[in-house]
Amino acid sequence: MRVLSVASECVPLVKTGGLADVAGALPGALAHAGVEMRTLLPGYPSVMAAADGAVHELGDLFGGPARIVEGRLGDTVLYALDAPHLYDRAGSIYLGPDGRDWPDNPQRFAALSMAAARLGAEGIGGWHPQLLHLHDWQAGWTPIYLRALGAADRVATLVTVHNVAFQGVADADMIGPLKLPPEGFTPDGYEYWGRISALKAALIHVDAINTVSPTYASELLTPEFGMGLDGVLRARRGDLCGILNGIDEAIWTPPYKAPRGKGKHTRALREELGLPQKDGPLAIVISRLTEQKGLDLLLAALPALIDTGGQLALLGSGDPKLEAAFRDAAAALPDVSVRIGYDEALSRRMMAGGDAILVPSRFEPCGLTQLYGLRYGTLPVVALTGGLADTVINASPAGLAAGAATGLQFYPINADTLAQALVKLTTLWGDQAVWQRMMRNAMAHPVGWDVSARAYADLMKSLDKSI
Ligand code: ADP
Ligand code: GLC
Repeated sequence: MRVLSVASECVPLVKTGGLADVAGALPGALAHAGVEMRTLLPGYPSVMAAADGAVHELGDLFGGPARIVEGRLGDTVLYALDAPHLYDRAGSIYLGPDGRDWPDNPQRFAALSMAAARLGAEGIGGWHPQLLHLHDWQAGWTPIYLRALGAADRVATLVTVHNVAFQGVADADMIGPLKLPPEGFTPDGYEYWGRISALKAALIHVDAINTVSPTYASELLTPEFGMGLDGVLRARRGDLCGILNGIDEAIWTPPYKAPRGKGKHTRALREELGLPQKDGPLAIVISRLTEQKGLDLLLAALPALIDTGGQLALLGSGDPKLEAAFRDAAAALPDVSVRIGYDEALSRRMMAGGDAILVPSRFEPCGLTQLYGLRYGTLPVVALTGGLADTVINASPAGLAAGAATGLQFYPINADTLAQALVKLTTLWGDQAVWQRMMRNAMAHPVGWDVSARAYADLMKSLDKSI
């Protein structure tokens, strides 16, 4: 089956979060399941650098000339949407130098959606996708454009919701500039509290919806987690499913096979970060610093970790207030190390050297760092929500008695329960036989794409309209 994946970021070319890991891994994973997936990305400078193949002119696209340039993405085909007026700029792919969304983000990602619809309707170089796989709001207008091009009855659409917090909302005066059908501006169309939403448009018009874990698929139907779109999702609950993300095991491989191989990496990490060498669990965090990730809870719960002999190493960036608070904690506490920034290589050394990885998110559609943690025997301590609930086996009495535990889960999600979990972590550390068993369980837990790639392939094939 031929599928065009449409994403705003993709490893190894451009990444701000887990969406990029997933978009980057799926084409390879699906190739084993009978799906030929090619990928359409905005032509940011780093993407254009990988595109030097055939050129397909698209004409004017929201105020400037656009074309598709072919390239390679690993073993698969890349289509780069070359539109310099939209994408050829330095800095973050989403945010301007002032830290706010680029003002023309509605046009930038409507352009991605329009190009996707054109490729769906017209094909490219003789290649005709049977399904458009849309990631998040940035690809959200695609089904509406596809319909306008008269191809919605031939080409199937699937949207994957990686995070319902990002909804692609813009002012209603963008309806004209984005070439949206004005009659769609209704509550059962793309209208959203007097404005317009690209994600809502997708949820209403696609053939099927999935998200990145079964638990988040259920949570999305509730007002607490649906973030205003739960009603739309409830109306489509029969077309909604959760398929757990995997990780690319070729990229994320621990530099040791058995738990005992970790020790030298832990010593090296402490050395690198200036943490005292000691006998206690070294907990790590690798994260965007945002409200979602619950790291303010960790600040409040930190004494529970440090006072019981643990240490913390954090790598992250985001909210300036959180950045400052963690910097202050590191300045005050010798057992806390904080690196503000984005550093892929350091994140791998931390994964190898850390004993535990903390993910106290308020909500988490899937979460990838706990999956890397499992693979590296870096025991996850996670909030019981979304994909964190689906991937970690809690060291509850039952989990321990079954010899199955891989980490710790806490609920309800607050600083007190996190503190309890951190105390429990250091207690578990004190029983090395149990800790090592948990490490072995974690490292043996399947976190690759095999099962989920088959689920995606089955879903995609069930949506095919060309047969
Ligand atoms: P989200 O997509 O919500 O940020 P995920 O856990 O799905 O959360 O994915 C986050 C990805 O970004 C992981 O691959 C993680 O290792 C990476 N990451 C996050 N922050 C940093 C950072 N400061 N440096 C390096 N990698 C980071
Ligand atoms: C989003 C979610 C995260 C998920 C990632 C990849 O960024 O916040 O939970 O793992 O997408 O699907």
